[in-house]
Amino acid sequence: MKALFKAYLPYLSGYKLQFLLAIFGMVAVAVGTAGSAQIIKPVMDDIFIAGDEDMLTKIPFLLVAVFALKGIGQYLQTYYMSYVGLDVVRRLRDELVGHLIHQDMAFFQTMHSGEILSRITNDIARIQMVVTEIIPNVLREILTIIALTGYVIYESPKLAFYFLVIMPLALYPLSRLAKKMKRYSRLSQEHTASMTGRLSEIFSNIEVIKSNSTQALESEKFAVENQKVFKYLLKQIKVNALTSPLMEILGAVAIGVVIYIGGKEVISKEMTVGAFFAFSAALFMLYTPIKRLSRLYNKAQDAVVADKRMRELLAQRPEVRSGKIALAEPIESILFDHVSLVYEDSPALEDINMHLNKGDWVALVGDSGAGKSSFVNLLVRFYDPSSGSIQINGIDMAEIEIGSLHRKIAYVTQRIYIFNDTVGNNVAYGEPYDEERVIEALRKAHAVEFVDKLEAGIDTMLTEGGNNLSGGQRQRIALARALYKEPDVLILDEATSALDNKSEVLIQKALKALKNEMITITVAHRLSTIEDADRIYVFEAGKIICEGTHNSLLEGCEAYRKLAKVNRVF
Ligand SMILES: Nc1ncnc2c1ncn2[C@@H]1O[C@H](COP(=O)(O)OP(=O)(O)OP(=O)(O)O)[C@@H](O)[C@H]1O
Ligand SMILES: [Mg+2]
Repeated sequence: MKALFKAYLPYLSGYKLQFLLAIFGMVAVAVGTAGSAQIIKPVMDDIFIAGDEDMLTKIPFLLVAVFALKGIGQYLQTYYMSYVGLDVVRRLRDELVGHLIHQDMAFFQTMHSGEILSRITNDIARIQMVVTEIIPNVLREILTIIALTGYVIYESPKLAFYFLVIMPLALYPLSRLAKKMKRYSRLSQEHTASMTGRLSEIFSNIEVIKSNSTQALESEKFAVENQKVFKYLLKQIKVNALTSPLMEILGAVAIGVVIYIGGKEVISKEMTVGAFFAFSAALFMLYTPIKRLSRLYNKAQDAVVADKRMRELLAQRPEVRSGKIALAEPIESILFDHVSLVYEDSPALEDINMHLNKGDWVALVGDSGAGKSSFVNLLVRFYDPSSGSIQINGIDMAEIEIGSLHRKIAYVTQRIYIFNDTVGNNVAYGEPYDEERVIEALRKAHAVEFVDKLEAGIDTMLTEGGNNLSGGQRQRIALARALYKEPDVLILDEATSALDNKSEVLIQKALKALKNEMITITVAHRLSTIEDADRIYVFEAGKIICEGTHNSLLEGCEAYRKLAKVNRVF
């Protein structure tokens, strides 16, 4: 709880004016509340008992004034605290997304996308409560308690003593409940995240589910998580619901004692009736903020857990870090110097050496899982080599500013990514938009024909994932995106595998025309597409076992011969 205040109070420092107004509101509420208790005294003593007519006309106005003060205070406090709270949450969410988007590829591979979603939405919503509700209300309730307690002590120190001795006894059971609350909060948040995880898994795998008729199975798996979320949320409610009655009973005990002792004092004329009622009213009023405070304390447990989970994410530091040297000149050479790559603990690449120069077109072939994608992933720094180094124009890649590197490299991955945007924006992604260049890129990628047939041409909206396109069309959009960049290095990882033979040949031609301007790395299973490459590297179990031209490999490399044989069969 203290940690929460410590963590979030600094966020509030940028909102001095709003905060000042909110505090003004809180003070107004506290004073108004104490004032409304105080007003009972003249009502009783002056109007009812002494029959003072002058007071009779004054008090109603005073009463309205006191409540108006309280009302205005409440409004100011609610509005400005919510303003600050919502704005802090907006900033937190921006901060979290801005932070996560820079994480390593490895992070996204281990962290479920649903889990990330849940943390950004659910957890932050819980944290929102800290700022909009918990901090301001705790402050307000404490102010109110101070005002009322001050009033109670002022009115009758003796009676106040009894009350103030009994109330702290309530703290023990309350802290027990808060502990339970924390546990259930953690469990409910974890299961909410798993539930969102399952959800995103279901919808991203919907084709597999439908084609296997496994809806019932998936629904059942989802129901299990859903049930758990229900269970722990209910437990949280149970603990919370216990808090109020407990407070109420303890409050009744305290007030009972006060009535007994206070009544005695009134009977023996040591206290006026009005003073007694004002005192009791203040006590009753005191009871509400104390009860609220205990409930807020429980709620805070929820936020404490959410905050911890969020901080875990914010503490994640990417291992792949940008260097400082901006790569201004075009990429002329790439050198792989004894490069190895180990994922977690499974080795993927071992002692890779390769030297590429501008104008080179090289192809990577090999069985599935041989390490071809891993190799090209290193070039865009999805991962860093576990040992050895990669040099671009003689500069160690780790020293290069990562954005300046990416501006010069285009990578068409095995999985095609389409954004929920127009064809044109998908092609020009990340670069300034130039319609002529878009059309040129589409032409080279042999995509103009089908794009022209779309209802709005290059302004047609593509759905997320490109679901309104065929597999081959999607690949051509991705290819056009790569060519639009006019890259120094073009990496094609199975980039034409979904195309018909005719289109593939045409694209090959277009690429060959561009060949001298760049370094081209093609990963292919169909050897026909890479027969003309300057050099072919054969990968096997993370190693390069042969290299050479198509013909020299056919002669000298057993593994390549095997690959070629298999290719001929089809
Ligand atoms: N993110 C990852 N974490 C752990 N292991 C991985 C990861 N990516 C790939 N691997 C493993 O590394 C090895 C090489 O994979 P890679 O994707 O480089 O193969 P590939 O040659 O591209 O295969 P394909 O032709 O099927 O695309 C495989 O054994 C694979 O299981
Ligand atoms: Mg691959």
